[in-house]
Amino acid sequence: MNPQLFEKVDQYITHLVASEDIVLQETIQSLDDASMPQISVTPTQGKFLQLMLIMCKAKRVLELGTLGAYSTIWMTRAIPSDGKVITVEFDPHHAHIASQNIAKAGLSDQIDLRVGKAMDVLHELITHGEEAFDFIFIDADKPPYTEYFELALQLSHPGTVIICDNVIREGKILDENTDDERVKGVQRFNQMLANNPKVTATIIQTVGAKEYDGMALAIVK
Ligand code: SAH
Ligand code: DHB
Ligand code: MG
Repeated sequence: MNPQLFEKVDQYITHLVASEDIVLQETIQSLDDASMPQISVTPTQGKFLQLMLIMCKAKRVLELGTLGAYSTIWMTRAIPSDGKVITVEFDPHHAHIASQNIAKAGLSDQIDLRVGKAMDVLHELITHGEEAFDFIFIDADKPPYTEYFELALQLSHPGTVIICDNVIREGKILDENTDDERVKGVQRFNQMLANNPKVTATIIQTVGAKEYDGMALAIVK
């Protein structure tokens, strides 16, 4: 492992293909200003999400875990103007900052920010017969990832792409004796994913500006 090299190369790639405009820079700054954690996706990951959305021609997107809407802004910019993103945030303070950032980005019309627990909103969407999403990004609390994914499947159609952040946790998922509930949550999730006949899935490792981690990628059959 050479984290410094990974970070430098990530900066190099960011500069080449994932540079942030003022809106994205100010969104990152807003997290510090509001004493929120710096756990947004990186610019290269934001660009990666955009590529995924364009590849599956996404118009309807669901995100669990908004924080300051950094990933939300990247994603919304990759869908057509008649597309829509529903993003779910449990913490009202985070949601408040996110909605300011969304307004500054000029995306309030396309983004429906739901303040509530991901589990409750997923059940609500299913109960209300919400039209299936083309793309789902799961990035909220880690212990219930398995349940989030199962519910997300009920809001999917064949071809829906589901991406889940933070499923490697610096390799801690290899530790079978961990008592970290977040690590246990993603271990359980990864196992479920591997045995889930409804999707074709893989996991990629992510290195760069942030901690060594990984994303699970799944497409619904
Ligand atoms: N997707 C964001 C980062 C999300 S960080 C980005 O890349 O920019 C995870 C967020 O999930 C935090 O803001 C946290 O408050 C929120 N969260 C935690 N538990 C949640 C829950 N049960 N339901 C909804 N959101 C939750
Ligand atoms: C954490 C959460 C995330 O979604 C992330 O990308 C990194 C860290 C966390 O809760 O520590
Ligand atoms: Mg994350």
